[in-house]
Amino acid sequence: MRFELGGRRALVTGASAGIGLEIARELAARGAHLTLAARRLERLHELSGELQAAHGVEVNVVQADLAQPDGPRKLIASCGDAATIDVLVNNAGVGMHGDGVGHAWDRERDMIQLNVVAVAELTKHFVGRMRERGSGRVLQVASTASFLPCPGYAAYGATKAFVLHHAEALDEELRACDVRVLALCPGSTNTDFFEISGNVRGRAQVATSLDPVKVARAGVDAIQRGRRVTVPGLANKFTTAGLRLIPRRLQATLARIVLE
Ligand SMILES: NC(=O)c1ccc[n+]([C@@H]2O[C@H](COP(=O)([O-])OP(=O)(O)OC[C@H]3O[C@@H](n4cnc5c(N)ncnc54)[C@H](OP(=O)(O)O)[C@@H]3O)[C@@H](O)[C@H]2O)c1
Repeated sequence: MRFELGGRRALVTGASAGIGLEIARELAARGAHLTLAARRLERLHELSGELQAAHGVEVNVVQADLAQPDGPRKLIASCGDAATIDVLVNNAGVGMHGDGVGHAWDRERDMIQLNVVAVAELTKHFVGRMRERGSGRVLQVASTASFLPCPGYAAYGATKAFVLHHAEALDEELRACDVRVLALCPGSTNTDFFEISGNVRGRAQVATSLDPVKVARAGVDAIQRGRRVTVPGLANKFTTAGLRLIPRRLQATLARIVLE
């Protein structure tokens, strides 16, 4: 059954830029009230003003650093009554490109905290309340990197494998009620992600890169249709489907050639 968004409240993490910002715009255009979280508060205020004026929806903003161990707990506390959140979008995330052994551990630990621990903690909290109410949707922003070992993005790829497997397993566990945990798996998307990751994309990656608006639309469509795993873009769909035919060891070699 289609999940109507009009009048629902959605919490979007990482709404200050890129895919999360476009997901917030798409949710507001479909009538959802929003709670927007990220570190850059001024960007959230700017977006809040835009969305209230354009769509007449209510928007709250919360400054949250989800790479800090107490970040998810503080965000949960700022949301007040968790029972008011109908849709959770776990989008905030960063990548780290390069020498997987040589990366500074502090940065890598922060990435794991943000991409894995915060996602698991927010999901556990809000899905618990959704299950008590018998209704709700979670959209986990995973990646095409979730499907294979990613030399050059070793730890990042592993965090996204967690996000995809966790979402699929919870969604199956919840099959008896109207609560869904869905995974959005974008491939290369034109945002600040690569610059922040310390990566310069190759020609093939640039050529197949998608606009974040298209990725966001696919994610919000997935929320409404209840599609368990969504891979936006034809080239990405073919690539992830084709991976099933390739031995795991060869997947790692091919990924190294593309990503390193
Ligand atoms: N772009 C791609 O090619 C691509 C492909 C596959 C998957 N993804 C995934 O898509 C998601 C969004 O990435 P993007 O491409 O939109 O990148 P982006 O433009 O760099 O946006 C990242 C968002 O995450 C937020 N964020 C970063 N660190 C945070 C922290 N410590 N606490 C709270 N929020 C934090 C940022 O806000 P503040 O800096 O204001 O905190 C920003 O809103 C990520 O999970 C990423 O792994 C991206």
